[in-house]
Amino acid sequence: MASCLFDTSSYEPSPASTSATMDLHFRLATQEDADSIQQHIQAAFRAEDPRPNWVGSAELAAKFRMDVEPVLRCISASDSNILMAIDHAGTLVGTVMMSKRAPNSARLAMLAVDQRHSRAGIGRRLLQHAEQHCQNTWDVTRIELDVLSDRPELLEWYLRRGFTKTGAVVPFPEHLKEGLELPNLGCIELEKYL
Ligand SMILES: CC(C)(COP(=O)(O)OP(=O)(O)OC[C@H]1O[C@@H](n2cnc3c(N)ncnc32)[C@H](O)[C@@H]1OP(=O)(O)O)[C@@H](O)C(=O)NCCC(=O)NCCS
Repeated sequence: MASCLFDTSSYEPSPASTSATMDLHFRLATQEDADSIQQHIQAAFRAEDPRPNWVGSAELAAKFRMDVEPVLRCISASDSNILMAIDHAGTLVGTVMMSKRAPNSARLAMLAVDQRHSRAGIGRRLLQHAEQHCQNTWDVTRIELDVLSDRPELLEWYLRRGFTKTGAVVPFPEHLKEGLELPNLGCIELEKYL
């Protein structure tokens, strides 16, 4: 698979991203990046999104919190890291956390694209680069991640990227529900063999 496919989506990208072939480079995070990554992830997860069934509970999204400690831990540990997508001006526009799990498996989490550049193919390119990084660095042949059960269009997006459901669904942790009534919310596990 090519590392940087262009997004040929028929949808209009968001106003700030006029080109689906946006000039990006990808690099691993260092500890100096932790603060900007924390702010970037929190803002991306809190952002409203026009795509129907993309965000799920808007109330839950609006209360999303990311602390800098887990970001620093992910950057510092020997079996995890954060991939950053940087635009031509040096601005952080996308991130994804990567961690090695079982001997043959890596997990992706917190895939996040700056709202001003959403729907321009950055999420797709980040996924591709992260998969390649996990394969090259840890020699894994399987990638896993979770999607919330109330985000069916996002789930479909991952299926179009080659992921499939493992069948595992874990209830969304009560302590992260922020007092909201979300009785059937679950984390659907997806996997992809490279
Ligand atoms: C999920 C996320 C990373 C995707 O990033 P992105 O850069 O917008 O994604 P891409 O541009 O690569 O893909 C956009 C998709 O939206 C679709 N899309 C665009 N406009 C749309 C619209 N108006 N209605 C429905 N779908 C639309 C496109 O068809 C495209 O899918 P395709 O490539 O299969 O055709 C981004 O939405 C985000 O950061 N969300 C907040 C954090 C989050 O929820 N992360 C995921 C946790 S599991």
